[in-house]
Amino acid sequence: MDTLSNHKAHSLVGQVAIITGASRGIGAAIARSLAGLGALAVLCGRSSASLESVAKTIAEAGGNAEVIPCDVTSIESVGAAAKRIESSLGRVDVLVNNAGIGGFGGPLHQLSPDAWDQILNTNLRGVYYSIRAFAPLMIRARSGHIINISSITGKNPLPNGAAYAASKWGLNGLTYSVAEELRGHNIRVSVICPGSTNTDLSPHAGKDPAKMLQPEDVAHAVEMLVTQAPQSFVSEIVLRPTQKP
Ligand SMILES: NC(=O)c1ccc[n+]([C@@H]2O[C@H](COP(=O)([O-])OP(=O)(O)OC[C@H]3O[C@@H](n4cnc5c(N)ncnc54)[C@H](OP(=O)(O)O)[C@@H]3O)[C@@H](O)[C@H]2O)c1
Repeated sequence: MDTLSNHKAHSLVGQVAIITGASRGIGAAIARSLAGLGALAVLCGRSSASLESVAKTIAEAGGNAEVIPCDVTSIESVGAAAKRIESSLGRVDVLVNNAGIGGFGGPLHQLSPDAWDQILNTNLRGVYYSIRAFAPLMIRARSGHIINISSITGKNPLPNGAAYAASKWGLNGLTYSVAEELRGHNIRVSVICPGSTNTDLSPHAGKDPAKMLQPEDVAHAVEMLVTQAPQSFVSEIVLRPTQKP
């Protein structure tokens, strides 16, 4: 029987949640959370072995997870993953575009064009590829939730990380616009902008890891979004650590 305290438990049973960049850090925490809510978590990333070990921990905790290797910078790879998911599962209820790379090595005028391409192709173009591949399934079902993991850097200047900042400012603009394109299809599109989070993405020099956001804090924000009643949606969450790290 449902109670006041556990009404969110298992609320995603029967649903499929795709998480890009699920092999570690924030993506792995989101995958664990969504599986904890009852969804089948589809883990995407480039390293099958790391994805498999996350899937194993989810299975050991009683959840369901499936691994689909995918490189978000390759339109062929994302398209193949979408085809596989469509033919084997037939639905996508939640898409979390989390895969991302850092780039905090110095001023923009010293950044190589290759590094620029790698950052923008992963953090911004990859999200376009993913939405291009998966939104049609949601449109067909007239339901779905897309959650893009941006950064507080998408709202602030970031000296020595201009390409990363540009990718996240771009991702915010993409998200706000796609939210308007898809809401008429009953699809909710949200963006989460976390501050510094304790993962391998960057050395976070000079910051106290204990005071930083933890991957589970971002996962909790995702849980809040996907468990919201269907008639409304939170379009943006800016997540900050309580104490400055
Ligand atoms: N950590 C922070 O301080 C922070 C703050 C705000 C926002 N964010 C954002 O949060 C997201 C997750 O970052 P994180 O901190 O958890 O970093 P992380 O620990 O380095 O994890 C990044 C994930 O993205 C995957 N990935 C990278 N390139 C990929 C590609 N081309 N195709 C598919 N997957 C790819 C990685 O897996 P493989 O390498 O195996 O493919 C890994 O699973 C990123 O978008 C990041 O910008 C992070």
